[in-house]
Amino acid sequence: MESKIVENAELWVKELFVEDSTGHDWFHTDRVRKNALYIAKKEGANLFVCELAALLHDVADEKFNTSEEKGMDKVKDWLEEQGVSPSISEQIMSSIKTVSFKGGNNTEPTSLEGKVVQDADRLDAIGAIGIARCFMYAGAHGDAMHLSDIEPREKMTKEQYREKGAAINHFYEKLFKLKDLMKTETGIQLAHERNQFMENYVTQFLNEWNGI
Ligand code: ADP
Ligand code: NI
Repeated sequence: MESKIVENAELWVKELFVEDSTGHDWFHTDRVRKNALYIAKKEGANLFVCELAALLHDVADEKFNTSEEKGMDKVKDWLEEQGVSPSISEQIMSSIKTVSFKGGNNTEPTSLEGKVVQDADRLDAIGAIGIARCFMYAGAHGDAMHLSDIEPREKMTKEQYREKGAAINHFYEKLFKLKDLMKTETGIQLAHERNQFMENYVTQFLNEWNGI
């Protein structure tokens, strides 16, 4: 029963994200699911709740729906159709609700499963994959890789820099901050490793940019 529902969720998500170019393709969802299961096992969280919440976390996102509420209702109705019990559905919905970063102003997860899925999603924004997603996003939005003519970045307001749009800025604006926002021990450990990799990367990038 549970494995059939997971399989149906996969099919639904694949169909919805078939041609997405915003960094929310099926492969992102699949990586978040794998991260979530890994963390959930280490932390002793409910695997079914974590896996389904991870698989469905972007379906409800306001980016793909007329409103966040409509998106959430869509997922809730789907869970009911699949025969998921109200109490499990409630846990999945609450975990999905607290996943997103939203500039740091989102509601914080209280359940272990909510923490696991939020960590799993954030891990996919950092490390080697995070770097790739960042540059893909910048390319898709016509942003620069980096803007050296307006350095030092520290002297500009965030708004001034963001107006110009540059991938390297996104590391300072969001990616380097994520390691301190992780909730589970396993997530914290993985985030530190991935953050170190990003720091090395940006250091090397800036060295090459500035000339040896
Ligand atoms: P999420 O759904 O993960 O909260 P977003 O839609 O904000 O994410 O971002 C999707 C991906 O694009 C992430 O990997 C994120 O780091 C990257 N991204 C978001 N905004 C920017 C930006 N201004 N510049 C570069 N990358 C970005
Ligand atoms: Ni996501």
